[in-house]
Amino acid sequence: MEDFPRIGIVGGNGWIGGALARALVAAGLPAARLTLSCRSVPPGWLPDARWTHDNQALADASDVIVLSVRPQDWGTVALSAADKLVVSVMAGIPLADIATAVVSARVVRALPNAAADVGAAYTPWCASAAVTEADRAVVQRLFGTCGTGDEVPREVDIDYMTGCSGTGPAYPALLAAALIADAVAHGLPEAVARRAAVGILVGTGRLFERSGEDPADTVAAFVDYRGVTAAAIEAMRAAGFDAAVSAGLAAALVKSEALRPAKDAR
Ligand SMILES: NC(=O)c1ccc[n+]([C@@H]2O[C@H](COP(=O)([O-])OP(=O)(O)OC[C@H]3O[C@@H](n4cnc5c(N)ncnc54)[C@H](OP(=O)(O)O)[C@@H]3O)[C@@H](O)[C@H]2O)c1
Repeated sequence: MEDFPRIGIVGGNGWIGGALARALVAAGLPAARLTLSCRSVPPGWLPDARWTHDNQALADASDVIVLSVRPQDWGTVALSAADKLVVSVMAGIPLADIATAVVSARVVRALPNAAADVGAAYTPWCASAAVTEADRAVVQRLFGTCGTGDEVPREVDIDYMTGCSGTGPAYPALLAAALIADAVAHGLPEAVARRAAVGILVGTGRLFERSGEDPADTVAAFVDYRGVTAAAIEAMRAAGFDAAVSAGLAAALVKSEALRPAKDAR
């Protein structure tokens, strides 16, 4: 990635910003082409990157600026990107608000997840009208360093995906925790139950990665088999499994839309 643009990450010491910075360097971006900002004392990692508390200096030293602060801290970020490509990973902050605040029409909203830390995030993203094809290629390469992703056509898709793929390991962990609790209630040692549940998650991920199979086809195959798993799936669905997932995602969407700051909050 020697030819890659210089990247600046506002909030480069954070969970997502740090994961992205480490993924870029692991993919071959020389750390010297990275500028990372934070408010506190810079952490010890990536010592060859340029660390700063000055977000305008970061913007001036970068070709692409990534905004990776929490939505509630967005109002503390003051910089002019002077029409450079700006990529926000902040949940809930609209493209139009970002464009006005950073003085650039070339703005992308992206939504990675916590699996960026292990190079396995899924990152949907959407672009403002002024974003060019060359910008799109940069965004794809940027998030390709820490997983996969897709451009989505509408900004509302990003608000929805915030509560869907943006939650990363949360929903599989919820299922695993329920499996563990049930196994323990049936007398299994907790350590055994935990290894079994985590094994299921890891094995499932690897199987889907290899096969590319549609999960709905996997479920149908188990139901058609008419075995123990079919009995469980049918009982879970009769108890409202699908409705519970839809209710959860609806609540997540409401929360995601509520992250949008009031018009005069900056
Ligand atoms: N975590 C996830 O799973 C996830 C998933 C999808 C999207 N996101 C989005 O990603 C963004 C970052 O989330 P995160 O989980 O990485 O948060 P985080 O770990 O709290 O990192 C944010 C960092 O931003 C820094 N910061 C705050 N204000 C700043 C400023 N004015 N200038 C420079 N740095 C500043 C903070 O640095 P100091 O510590 O020095 O104050 C902090 O370490 C959020 O908007 C979130 O919605 C997160």
